Amino acid sequence: MSGNLEWNKIFGAGLATALVIIAVPQIAGAIYHQEAPEKMGYFVDAPEEVAGGAEEAELPPDWGTVLPTADLAAGEAAFARCQACHTIASGGADGIGPNLWGVLGGPVMHRAGFAYSDAMAAHKAEAPTWGYDEMDQFLTAPARYVPGTKMSFAGLRDTPTRINLIAYLRSQGSSLGIPAPDPSRQPGAAVPADGAAPAEGEASPATGADAATGAPVTGAAAQPTTEATPAAPPAATSEPPGN
Ligand code: HEC
Repeated sequence: MSGNLEWNKIFGAGLATALVIIAVPQIAGAIYHQEAPEKMGYFVDAPEEVAGGAEEAELPPDWGTVLPTADLAAGEAAFARCQACHTIASGGADGIGPNLWGVLGGPVMHRAGFAYSDAMAAHKAEAPTWGYDEMDQFLTAPARYVPGTKMSFAGLRDTPTRINLIAYLRSQGSSLGIPAPDPSRQPGAAVPADGAAPAEGEASPATGADAATGAPVTGAAAQPTTEATPAAPPAATSEPPGN
């Protein structure tokens, strides 16, 4: 009888030990498991973060509405970050980057004497002109819009800053006109398709570039921003985002 109990104890202890041996690596794995970062390496000159963090999900600016009220002085101040590499005065010299007089609305690679990258040449083949949207996307994230560009600048993520800067570029030798306001780009034109409540304050950001395709405006009435929401125009299919 007692011999039997003794064996039970021994057997039980062995079982417990086995369990520990099996379990410990699993637990340790769960605790110490590390995800590889999406991108390796260090980030220099990190782009400015927007307070709302709505980058990428925003509608493209409605140039016909935002340009007439843009702050040129603020745009000129923002250009300070470009001056390390660019002059903009008429007849200014090329530096690390090309002179930018008249670049807005002009052809991509507008300076004949400048040694542009192959990446920029490839981009020119697809989008030959620096229109507002093209310039906006380039300045948001140069390396994403023109992969391989030799403009080593992280980008300006703050939309109002970009708008002011683009208005300033426009004032420097550009003949690009201001387009008519575009209702499909107005705040409220693209309510998140899933009916999620719009972010507090500001106009509701679209949930993604693709979400802006013809989704009917459903939540517009519930939106807090009534100003500048003219009778909820149906969200017309906006231009293809990016290329
Ligand atoms: C670190 C240097 C550097 C900084 C800072 C920089 N750029 Fe550039 N930029 C370049 C270079 C180099 C090119 C040529 C890119 C290529 O060939 O791929 C370029 C190209 C451009 C072009 C295209 C010109 C053309 O002829 O097609 C524009 C527009 C431009 N930059 C605007 C800006 C603006 C606006 C800023 C500031 C927000 C800025 N850049 C900041 C170096 C810079």
